[in-house]
Amino acid sequence: MSTTPNPSAPSTQSGAARTPSCKVSASPHDAVPSAAGKKPAPPCTLVIFGAGGDLTRRLLMPALYNLAVDGLLDERMKIIGVNHGARETGEWVEELHKSLQQFAADKASTFHAGKLDDNAWNWVAQRLEYMAGEFEADDVFTQLKQRLDQQPGSNAIFYLAVGARFFKPISERLGKAGLLKEGDGANGGFRRLVIEKPFGTDLASARDLNAHILSYASESQIYRIDHFLGKDTVQSILAVRFANALFEPIWRREYIDSVQITAAETIGVEGRARFYEQTGAFRDMMPNHLFQLLGMVAMEPPNSFDAEAVRNKKAELFDAIQPLTPDDVVFGQYQKGPSGIGYLEEPDVAANSTTETYAAARVFVENWRWAGVPFYLRTGKRLAARRTEISVQLKPVPFLLFRDTPVDALTPNVLTLRIDPSHGTSFDFNVKTPGPVMQIGAVQSSFDYNDFFAAHANVGYETLLYDCMLGDATLFQRADSIETSWCAVDDVLHPKNGGAMAVHGYAAGSEGPAQADALLARDGRAWRPLQQSAPVRKSQE
Ligand code: BG6
Repeated sequence: MSTTPNPSAPSTQSGAARTPSCKVSASPHDAVPSAAGKKPAPPCTLVIFGAGGDLTRRLLMPALYNLAVDGLLDERMKIIGVNHGARETGEWVEELHKSLQQFAADKASTFHAGKLDDNAWNWVAQRLEYMAGEFEADDVFTQLKQRLDQQPGSNAIFYLAVGARFFKPISERLGKAGLLKEGDGANGGFRRLVIEKPFGTDLASARDLNAHILSYASESQIYRIDHFLGKDTVQSILAVRFANALFEPIWRREYIDSVQITAAETIGVEGRARFYEQTGAFRDMMPNHLFQLLGMVAMEPPNSFDAEAVRNKKAELFDAIQPLTPDDVVFGQYQKGPSGIGYLEEPDVAANSTTETYAAARVFVENWRWAGVPFYLRTGKRLAARRTEISVQLKPVPFLLFRDTPVDALTPNVLTLRIDPSHGTSFDFNVKTPGPVMQIGAVQSSFDYNDFFAAHANVGYETLLYDCMLGDATLFQRADSIETSWCAVDDVLHPKNGGAMAVHGYAAGSEGPAQADALLARDGRAWRPLQQSAPVRKSQE
């Protein structure tokens, strides 16, 4: 997450002389600055395990294409795709090209709605090479070693875009083949390992996986991805908090009543039932994506934007999460409803499956800033609306000045950071309504990215790939944070009484199970409706 200071902005901060130390390490050649002053990443060979998979087709290749359009890849870049199944490089290139064209033709997608830039695609295509092989076959690693040894001191990134069962065997074979050994001194090439989620399925498996991988690579070589951190709107949480004087003074227990973090989806399991049956909504989203949002919104200010400074503060935050108990968590499963079939009717789902497709939790962060402030987290499939957002509700004013007027109750101030599908922030506050009588009306002030910034085709992996090439680990998960996050939810995954969490039904297309409402009602609070309407404006009445 490199920062590009605005050179024309006057510096008014007392600490303004401090330069962020995570910044773009010098490129070995004199590159022409592109995309908002950024330079191409250093040359490297990107080896993608899982070249024939969905992730490569839908996200990695479009992101690489976008980086190429922005001139952020080095001329000497190479992309080797490893997958089982014989096919010529030309066939692979053609498959990827077709997918990209389909995405571009889809008006609803954010991927170049319209037309691909042929030059940029050709630039990428010329650098692609397919290598057939099983992920656990030693000869794949011998071949890779031979390829990389042809360029002594070359940089390489090994991207594991594969099922989690391959994380250990691939890392082990890379290690044993000497592919993770970094060079020394001036001739030293970097070797990095990118690992997708799910990183473990509970605390014990995450510890085991970390220990295994760390026996072949050092922590600084490992880039554990949580794709939520690739979203601009998620990265912007730090900007909103730390680039504005307005928020930080009130960002604490004295002023904040509660925080709601929502990742609601309207889609069901979309052909992923085999994976989902083993995983469920809680493991799929809670200790990773939702905790990452919690981390961004609740961490202490870091001393700098250096990767370790940011990750240390996040690690402290995860460490302060009070372990969740089953009483603080509600599981649900969608049943036939207005938006479609029930989970049990989905293909590949067991007829008596108790896998949860919805999870809500009340989380407390035990530190000086947040003691006593509940963070309510929820996620689910086939809900009433697609909505990923964080709503920070402020406490009521201390004194009801308007108590002898027709005003009975004030609407609370709420700052909402909208992450998906709408991008921006909104603030709900109160004003006097026009007229001779003192009456208070709730209004909303809203900022939308589209109103201020030109649309930029982005699939969410561009920054992550670019940062990995630069060696900037700010947006990646460290081993300790992964483990503390799993630790915080371990009592839910393995209840002490040996029982299992109850799973409550909710209608497909609804707001979720009634028990999730009860979780907040017992604290005298309520979820913000998923199908919200902004305060009605007079002209719209
Ligand atoms: C993935 C989960 O990590 O995140 C999916 O496995 C989920 O189940 C997805 O749908 C949500 O991501 P986004 O970016 O679409 O909100």
